[in-house]
Amino acid sequence: MPFLPRSEDDASHVNGAPIGVFDSGVGGLSVLRHIHEMLPREDLIYLADAAYAPYGGRSGDEITARARVVCGWLVEQGAKAVVVACNTATVVAVASLRAEFDIPIVAMEPAIKPAALMTRSGAVGVLATERTLASEQFQDLVQRYANGARIVAQPCPGLVELVERGHLDPARTMPLLSRYLQPLLDEHIDVLVLGCTHYPFLLPTISHMTGSGVTIIDPAVAVTQQLRRRLASDAGMAPHSGAGVLRFFTSGVPDVVGPVIELLWQAPVQLRQVLAPHHA
Ligand code: DGL
Repeated sequence: MPFLPRSEDDASHVNGAPIGVFDSGVGGLSVLRHIHEMLPREDLIYLADAAYAPYGGRSGDEITARARVVCGWLVEQGAKAVVVACNTATVVAVASLRAEFDIPIVAMEPAIKPAALMTRSGAVGVLATERTLASEQFQDLVQRYANGARIVAQPCPGLVELVERGHLDPARTMPLLSRYLQPLLDEHIDVLVLGCTHYPFLLPTISHMTGSGVTIIDPAVAVTQQLRRRLASDAGMAPHSGAGVLRFFTSGVPDVVGPVIELLWQAPVQLRQVLAPHHA
């Protein structure tokens, strides 16, 4: 049998198919921007499931059903991998998605392990939705990785809704943020994990309020590194030429969601509606 070196065109390593990325709404754009920066040749399809946002107020069955519909649509568009850019959908639905779809499903995970290794004060804060913090998966992460650190979990009702409306200015966000951050500061946290993909859009105000003594971790970087590993080992990377194409979709009303996406993405986008709820 002749030795055949792997070429750049080897189908198992080069794959021009897009990567699907979804969230309940616009929060997953904070993950998309890392993916686009770190993997600039990849074609990306983003779906903001805004008609169903926030997921946090829905039952586990509803979130799982919706995540399956969205993931199925991304697979129909030819996605070679899907990123669940939503902590809430991850803790509720990732196991079902992995069982159903035969492509890499890369998902969020609150960065308890690196945070616990990083803290010097011994106290780590986590901001996330109530549903994420109440999940068995979160409790399990804390048990496995807290490594003696005190994990101070703070649910943040209302923050997702502010970001969904594009209300990022401190005048609107500070009242809620100070209510959620003060208890963590009182516990002398020196590391803060952003456990919801909407929250990085509030980072300037959050870091202003916590001060420079608190290191803030956005798990999106680690998630993107994991995506890169899964592309290299399984799904294949984009060909070595050209910049990736980005396409944006929503189940919400494009005239409402579009301006918020443009505000957060900081560029004009063409937004098309898919998977909208049926009107009776
Ligand atoms: N961005 C989602 C997350 O990371 C928001 C959750 C929701 O829609 O309730 O958890």
